[in-house]
Amino acid sequence: MKINLKVWRQSDPLAVGGFVNYSVEAVEPDLSFLEMLDMLNEQLITQGEVPIEFDHDCREGICGTCGMMINGRAHGPQKRTAACQLYMRHFDEGETVTLEPWRATAFPVIKDLVVDRSAFDRIMMAGGYVSIKTGAAPDANAVLVDKPNADKAFDYATCIGCGACVAACPNASASLFTAAKISHLALLAQGKPERKQRVVKMTKQMTAEGFGDCSNHGECQSVCPQGISIDAIAQMRREYIRAKLPFG
Ligand code: SF4
Ligand code: FES
Repeated sequence: MKINLKVWRQSDPLAVGGFVNYSVEAVEPDLSFLEMLDMLNEQLITQGEVPIEFDHDCREGICGTCGMMINGRAHGPQKRTAACQLYMRHFDEGETVTLEPWRATAFPVIKDLVVDRSAFDRIMMAGGYVSIKTGAAPDANAVLVDKPNADKAFDYATCIGCGACVAACPNASASLFTAAKISHLALLAQGKPERKQRVVKMTKQMTAEGFGDCSNHGECQSVCPQGISIDAIAQMRREYIRAKLPFG
């Protein structure tokens, strides 16, 4: 199949970017979307042009590095699917596909489709870990976690930090990402001793990075490749109130 592409090209963070049209011939329907971009880049290199920069690592939907707006939707048209797990059979012969980087002030463009997501790392460094002594492996089984909370904690722990939630949010809020990390730890015994400091520090860092507020649009959950529910945001809010109340 033939695919036409309209790709955002930007040579450096300060350059003025713009869309450039390309076409790729003989694309097999079973190629992944990133493999199709590899084909285009080989074509560009052969022609002596600069290849398109895009982020990727595992190509298995687990590392969270891939990510781009595909036809205006974070990670593309397939629900619960990271860009690397999208296949060309989901597109039509001759279709024009528009590719843009994540849109958010807190995610500045580095080059083409690559953005700087180190703001997420700084949110994690503010408290997204357990620093207390939790004992050796057998001690982990000494405090039981009830099944509903264990399931919820596991679901929140599946956040891959891709940033699609930010890119899709009209406020460019990082609430779903931050809430998933806070809620995951708050539900487990090992995370409870530091839960108050954690929620205050991580939400403070989230604001300092320039992410917007959550106004319950729900776009984040609809594009999240891991299907993380906005229930996490409600849990984060409860954690915050509890941390701020003198008797919480
Ligand atoms: S909450 Fe979902 S969309 Fe947001 S960073 Fe985590 S996995 Fe990606
Ligand atoms: S490349 Fe790792 S999640 Fe897509």
